[in-house]
Amino acid sequence: MNRRRRVYEGKAKILYEGPEPGTLVQHFKDDATAFNNKKHDKIEGKGVLNNRISEYLFQKLGEIGVPTHFIKRLNMREQLIREVEIIPLEVVIRNVAAGSLSTRLGVDEGTMLPRSIVEFYYKSDELNDPLVTEEHITAFGWATPPELETVMSLALRINDFLSGLFLGVGIRLVDFKCEFGRLWEGEQMRIVLADEISPDCCRLWDIETQDKLDKDRFRRDMGGLVEAYQEVARRLGLHVDNP
Ligand code: C5P
Repeated sequence: MNRRRRVYEGKAKILYEGPEPGTLVQHFKDDATAFNNKKHDKIEGKGVLNNRISEYLFQKLGEIGVPTHFIKRLNMREQLIREVEIIPLEVVIRNVAAGSLSTRLGVDEGTMLPRSIVEFYYKSDELNDPLVTEEHITAFGWATPPELETVMSLALRINDFLSGLFLGVGIRLVDFKCEFGRLWEGEQMRIVLADEISPDCCRLWDIETQDKLDKDRFRRDMGGLVEAYQEVARRLGLHVDNP
């Protein structure tokens, strides 16, 4: 059994105290949830795939100079990360209309957006993660104006890079959610990419067939989620043992 101190348990991940001060172990569970936990299931192998895919994407982003919390993968389900102070925002970047944008604004799913759109949602389960504006964020002090500027420019860089990376393997990055944190190094603070980037928090469509290779398969009861995530891993050239 796990005797490490549990720092936080979320819907799909657990954070444990890490081996060194300032580090945490991020554990990927097989739980799948949607609609703020109203729909919940366990999908064997999902955690292993997300751990591997997120590791790969964070490493690639690190290589192009995007600062991240990622240190190294420890095993099939766990990675070592730096402890950060999470900025309570879900940052969503959209390239193609889908999901809540289509519902909210009546834009047909699949419509290419004239440019990438960045949205902010306030992280609060009780409030169902409401859409908020920069005015709310800075007025309520969730992030300062310069922090928000950094978040915005990092989010767009991440989107540019990942869009190209996925396009190279025949996948359209329709939209994705990412989170950022404050990493303190003495008196110095840097904003870094945190959490995960995996098919759980992206919409990924096959360029040719428009097949969904992401968590919409679970949200929309389409089945074949693990096979879809495996396909993403395979195209990225990742070997995942018995997910
Ligand atoms: O549902 P919506 O269209 O707003 O989702 C936009 C993107 O953000 C999708 O890729 C979805 O997977 C992701 N997302 C997420 N976690 C949430 C809300 C959305 O990963 N709580």
